[in-house]
Amino acid sequence: MNKPLIDVLAGVRQAPPPVWMMRQAGRYLPEYRAVRDKAGSFLNLCFNPDMAAEVTLQPIRRFGFDAAILFSDILVIPHALGQTVSFVEGEGPRLDPLTTGAALKALPRQCDDTILQPIYETVRRVKAELPEGVTLIGFCGAPWTVATYMVAGQGTPDQAPAKRLAAADPEAFAGLIDTLVEASADYLVNQLDAGAECLQIFDTWAGSLPPEDFERWCVAPTARLVKMVRAKRPGTRIIGFPRGAGRSIPHYVDATGVDAVSLETAIDRQFAREQIQCRVPVQGNLDPEALRTGGETLDRAVDEVLAAFAGGPFIFNLGHGILPDTPVEHVERMLARVRR
Ligand code: CP3
Repeated sequence: MNKPLIDVLAGVRQAPPPVWMMRQAGRYLPEYRAVRDKAGSFLNLCFNPDMAAEVTLQPIRRFGFDAAILFSDILVIPHALGQTVSFVEGEGPRLDPLTTGAALKALPRQCDDTILQPIYETVRRVKAELPEGVTLIGFCGAPWTVATYMVAGQGTPDQAPAKRLAAADPEAFAGLIDTLVEASADYLVNQLDAGAECLQIFDTWAGSLPPEDFERWCVAPTARLVKMVRAKRPGTRIIGFPRGAGRSIPHYVDATGVDAVSLETAIDRQFAREQIQCRVPVQGNLDPEALRTGGETLDRAVDEVLAAFAGGPFIFNLGHGILPDTPVEHVERMLARVRR
């Protein structure tokens, strides 16, 4: 049977477009919160294949999305590189910050692979249980975005700690980026071997760098990552999400070779259609805030996204992750409207 999402990634428009949501397994679902409570910590959930497979499949069962995304986090890579990582309820990730070039140079060059094995087991279990026609997406964080958390030890509004260290000791920072490129390539190849059918690279903070640094820390490392994965597993379909990169996205597409791009909410739609969708299939763009609001605001927002992009190869999704206080009925309403 054909998989609509894979067909779109190959450049073939589908009507209606395939649909999934970033963070579709998450706190807005009561069944997720139940498993999350049982797991104790967020990382326990990520590293328990029974529970991680269960929460990956929950939104597929409830809504019939066209894709499942592996339940894990971009910060399992720093964890497997030996950095202490935890998630504080209601606040977000906390890592032991790496504040000096010496601290970066002291990091191991490779992940402790035994730590990541349970994640590959999750992929195998999900793949075995996935309904026909549903695509399994593997993922990692882009090197720059992962590095911002490793250096700052938490999320930051402006990524200043990582920028500062990259400026103070570019050689050590480049070493960290290289380590992340190689570790992420292995991690993605292992996900593919376990059953992932395509990949997404999340670069949440791609928009915070000036052009030269965007080139050095986002575009070039992502290009190397894509190339390394395709050298080992030719033909792998990869979606890039350079959030905030706006008018630099056409260049990002050409330079990295990604097969598709996930669009943030704020992008100029005419620009995205004429300069991005003419190059590669696009995904995303619905405002998570409109989904939370629901009602006619949501209907209008859905219609605007469809009017802008559904004429070409398009995957319906949000411009960023679903907000935790989004009512489940709003997701049902969105799906009904996309698929009507
Ligand atoms: O359903 C899915 O989308 C798959 C799983 C997934 C998670 N995180 C689960 C998660 C994916 C693909 C991610 C990616 C991720 N993680 C990114 C890139 C995308 C983005 O949202 O910008 C980033 C920056 C992270 C790091 C991270 N993880 C942060 C900043 C937070 C805290 C913010 C929050 O929403 O709480 C997390 C925690 C996290 N990752 C949760 C989930 C479901 C919520 C934690 C919980 O359940 O306790």
